[in-house]
Amino acid sequence: MNSNNTKKNRILVIDDEEHITSLLKETLELSGYICDTAECGKEGLRKLRKSNGYDLLITDVRLPDISGLEILELTGKKYPFLPVIVITGYATIESTKTALRLGAMDYIPKPFTTGKVLSAVNSAIHASFTRIRGRRFRKIVYRSHIMDQVMELVSKIAKTDSTILVTGESGTGKELIARAIHSNSLRSTQPFISVNSGALPEGLLESELFGHIKGAFTGATSTNHGRFRVADGGTLFLDEVGNMSPAMQVKLLRVLQDGEFSPVGSSEILTTDVRLITATNINLEDAMSKNEFREDLYYRLNVIEVHVPPLRHRTEDILPLAEHFLSKQMGSEKRDSCTLSSSSASILLSYRWPGNVRELENAMERAWVLCENSEILPKDLPGRMMSSADKPPEMHPSGGGIQLDSLLDNIEKHYIISALKRSKGNKTHAAGLLGLKRTTLLARINSLGIAKDTGRN
Ligand SMILES: Nc1ncnc2c1ncn2[C@@H]1O[C@H](COP(=O)(O)OP(=O)(O)OP(=O)(O)O)[C@@H](O)[C@H]1O
Ligand SMILES: [Mg+2]
Repeated sequence: MNSNNTKKNRILVIDDEEHITSLLKETLELSGYICDTAECGKEGLRKLRKSNGYDLLITDVRLPDISGLEILELTGKKYPFLPVIVITGYATIESTKTALRLGAMDYIPKPFTTGKVLSAVNSAIHASFTRIRGRRFRKIVYRSHIMDQVMELVSKIAKTDSTILVTGESGTGKELIARAIHSNSLRSTQPFISVNSGALPEGLLESELFGHIKGAFTGATSTNHGRFRVADGGTLFLDEVGNMSPAMQVKLLRVLQDGEFSPVGSSEILTTDVRLITATNINLEDAMSKNEFREDLYYRLNVIEVHVPPLRHRTEDILPLAEHFLSKQMGSEKRDSCTLSSSSASILLSYRWPGNVRELENAMERAWVLCENSEILPKDLPGRMMSSADKPPEMHPSGGGIQLDSLLDNIEKHYIISALKRSKGNKTHAAGLLGLKRTTLLARINSLGIAKDTGRN
């Protein structure tokens, strides 16, 4: 994940077992992270205090001095931007739920594989919505009419208990939407658990979802409760559901039909009350026609579909999102503020964004790192974006056309703000930069709702 162009993310691991900290340090460093370790809670808190910023904290729950749950509570108040993963050696459902309620991003039961840790670490670090704990973090930025409609649907369905299928290309914000549904639902005080069904081999996915008993298979040295149990009362988000094996599809269907499942290695029948939200970026109807996806499961999952459109079909969202990601970078590092130059903005507007919002987020992080002055220039953007620089934004084929007025307002607003910043708030100078009369500029500032003192501070 870390290229030479981006800063290395720093992780602090707190665990009193030396073999665990050294295994994690080695694994994380091989993957391009910088990793520090602490062997007790107090030492961990001291390191957090002294450093000028970790990107992630991994802490064991059972520590010799303070418990991992207390660390979670303390850091939630002091460092609300810091995502935390807890390692639970003697996990009870209750302590795991408490950790998630206190804002832990994820939990990893011991014993764990390094692959599992890396996947949890990557998603904690790269999911921007985890950066601020509590409800505030679920900020969904949009200005387009088409996203307005999506969000209207989200608020209507959130309060129901219906099973939801979120569809859309990779990186469009499907998980963010799933989290928004959960946090606006009656289950919002209960856990939201996310599982990527596509990233795990079948056997592991089964024990991840339904749990296993001790001795169920080689390596099952302790009981694992499984995500369906931990999510009881809350929401379970199953990503990439289209990649599930036929056998797993049958097991999932059983939970949906009867609310029942059995842990791997056990004949005990357990029940659970979870709201299921699934997501896919493949076309499930195609998969059904090829007999790769069960029709009965499809209709159970797709009670209500929320389709998140690709970014190129909602160009009005591009600049507000770019600014949002930039201000997030500014919030995480003490450095002078930074704006998009007009030429960079038009490149962003005309690019096709095959990787959607995630690609834009990464491009802004990269640009923030490379930017030398207070303005992001085209040279700070990835080279692949340049070839599309002269084309106007694409008109999307579905969704009822573009909102030309608001798209143009958006572009105009962007240029006016840039000119005001460049001229340090001097309106006459800014009007000159824009080729406008001063009075015309003042009228536009008014009608577009731009703050009168923009550029002065
Ligand atoms: N409207 C939005 N406002 C703010 N951030 C967004 C928005 N849409 C997406 N993001 C951010 O973009 C990144 C990708 O979003 P997310 O993980 O939800 O996409 P996804 O559709 O689930 O992707 P994938 O198909 O690859 O799993 C995340 O960091 C998310 O926070
Ligand atoms: Mg996703």
